[in-house]
Amino acid sequence: MLRLQNLVFALTFVLFLSCGKEKEQEFFGKQETPETTENPIVTKGKELFEGKGTCVACHKPDVKVIGPSISEISKIYKEKNANMVKFLKGEGEPIVDPSQYEVMKTNFSITKNMSDEELQALEAYFYSFN
Ligand code: HEC
Repeated sequence: MLRLQNLVFALTFVLFLSCGKEKEQEFFGKQETPETTENPIVTKGKELFEGKGTCVACHKPDVKVIGPSISEISKIYKEKNANMVKFLKGEGEPIVDPSQYEVMKTNFSITKNMSDEELQALEAYFYSFN
């Protein structure tokens, strides 16, 4: 009788240990994966933003440099439900800082040569900020 109790105790203990380990792995596993790199469209947008588009020269994530910050643009576009793809094709109106529109306009020579898919990737990258 005593031995059976010992066995039950031991089994319960082993079960308890293995459950704990699983939870621990799940917890740490989640922490290791940053959210922004998960969406392939956002990653492509980032590449275009820093590479071919040269947007990074004037737009930074949170501070205004030559152009408004990415998060400010993203916020205003979301609020007004505006169409960034259309704007980058040169077919829209500036809604963030119209007084500086002439500076932004010089980039349409690059963005007009991008495919819809590329422009949507840029838009997704902006929208990933807030
Ligand atoms: C030479 C500097 C410069 C570069 C390079 C640049 N921008 Fe801009 N951008 C600006 C300025 C200045 C504004 C503010 C004027 C305005 O709102 O149109 C702006 C505004 C914007 C806006 C908001 C437009 C609106 O509705 O008012 C978007 C979206 C944008 N830029 C996207 C981009 C993307 C995408 C690229 C890369 C393909 C890029 N910009 C490259 C200077 C730049």
